[in-house]
Amino acid sequence: MAKWTRKDLISTYDLSAEEITTILDTASEFKKVSERRIKKVPALRGKTVVNLFVEPSTRTRTSFELAEQRLSADIINISATTSSLTKGETLLDTAKNIEALQVNLLVMRHSAAGSHYFLAKRLSCGVINAGDGAHCHPTQALLDTFTIREKKGRIEGLNVSIIGDILHSRVARSNIWALIKLGANVTIGGPATLVPREFEKIGVRVCDNLKDTLEGADVVNLLRIQHERQRASFFPSIGEYAAIFGLNKETIKYLKPDALVMHPGPINRGVELDSSIADGPQSVILEQVTNGLAVRMAVLYLIAGCL
Ligand code: CP
Repeated sequence: MAKWTRKDLISTYDLSAEEITTILDTASEFKKVSERRIKKVPALRGKTVVNLFVEPSTRTRTSFELAEQRLSADIINISATTSSLTKGETLLDTAKNIEALQVNLLVMRHSAAGSHYFLAKRLSCGVINAGDGAHCHPTQALLDTFTIREKKGRIEGLNVSIIGDILHSRVARSNIWALIKLGANVTIGGPATLVPREFEKIGVRVCDNLKDTLEGADVVNLLRIQHERQRASFFPSIGEYAAIFGLNKETIKYLKPDALVMHPGPINRGVELDSSIADGPQSVILEQVTNGLAVRMAVLYLIAGCL
């Protein structure tokens, strides 16, 4: 296992294949903890973690908080609406004030791409990215790769297709970097306006129709259309998007029968994914959520060991 030396986790782009594998292997051990009768270990006893969520979240926030509790950390939760950010305090001042309370780790979600790099350079506590704008969501990509590895036994050589709003997706970017480093063949698909061709430069196959994107895939990861980040009209209507790029009872026939169907959530049911498929036998969507807990325990544990 590669020795972990980072005090921050900001992007899968920064990680080597060995570091990603270290996180996944550590997560495998922590998954066993959550299957015990007593689901708690003392690994972060005496450490304080602040969860600062400046954007909405259900899965990531709950999962980080539970991971911290399972590791016996002391936890403070701050949300944007109840913080002094609403009074005009800068993000750096907020973070410096949190650090002045001898906090060991800051887990943050923020709408500004790069905000974690900015803080990590200026703080001595660890900084973990729980999502920054359309840039990165490293723990989502790590839990996705963990789930693929657990289900398929490997990542190298698998065909993984990611479909939807790639342009605005931190999940897509983080998955692409992690999967390429681990040797997967990555295809991205969706409306040409939402699927940047520049990914071809790093070996990603780019498709603009659903059939080509799905055929031969071992794994398909569906993404939500991110209306909150779109400043223009990228396709005529949601109905048209669902008809052309939605995974449903008809279009799932393009997939191999043993292909995994994944989604980071939240799902827009009936748009990118029909309920019959989201809740069907090929879906591993809720297993992704379960694995997110183990992956976040691993990340917190490895980073805390470097502080
Ligand atoms: N997948 C994900 O990041 O979900 P939340 O926005 O609910 O955290």
